[in-house]
Amino acid sequence: MQNVYMNTHPIVQDRLTRLRDKGASPQEFRSYLNEIAMFLVIDATCNLPISPTIIETPVAQMEGAVLDDTSNPLIVPILRAGLAFSDTMSRILPHADTGHIGLCRDPETHEPVEYLVRLPKNLDRPIFVVDPMLATGGSMIGTLDILIARGVDMKNIKIITLVCAPEGIASLRVKYPTLDIYTAAVDSHLNDHAYIVPGLGDAGDRYFGTEG
Ligand code: PRP
Ligand code: URA
Repeated sequence: MQNVYMNTHPIVQDRLTRLRDKGASPQEFRSYLNEIAMFLVIDATCNLPISPTIIETPVAQMEGAVLDDTSNPLIVPILRAGLAFSDTMSRILPHADTGHIGLCRDPETHEPVEYLVRLPKNLDRPIFVVDPMLATGGSMIGTLDILIARGVDMKNIKIITLVCAPEGIASLRVKYPTLDIYTAAVDSHLNDHAYIVPGLGDAGDRYFGTEG
């Protein structure tokens, strides 16, 4: 699929299978998701700028490369489940800032309902929008609309998800055709409740242990 980068690494597929299993405890779910997040974040950040720097190893002087922290990326988790990725991402990119967008799907209409937007003033930088689930695509499109309305250049945005439904990718493509999507799986379809099949259930509830 165009601009969909799926990580097929055996460790990612192993952890994804284990966390999909309904028998995984919230503790196991969190641990597997955090491990997968590391791989997906590494994929999505592969074009971050680096600068040459001279260092002394114990043996010799050499020119190495360090992340150019003037690029100062912005991580945008879609609450709640997006926090699973943003925690990992901000550990790898300690100079990145985090802007939060809170959206919750209405259980009847499945449309996203906005309840929080906290973004920094500077939105002219690489932006990573993170949310494990891309189901109908409504929450992601709602988030991108909020960013675009604030003047963000689409070219600066990449999204990181764990599991996508083809329907969500298709809706995203209508409005944002060139967007890069980093993911671990594209599943079969959505069910009547707009849940991803086979999916993993409610990512936020399973991650935070608020099921049932
Ligand atoms: C989930 C998930 C996404 C959204 C995906 O959030 O984390 O944000 O649903 O569905 P969509 O593509 O159809 O919009 P949810 O609304 O369950 O909130 P939560 O993260 O607080 O559990
Ligand atoms: N949100 C989830 O957490 N899971 C789905 O399958 C769909 C939306």
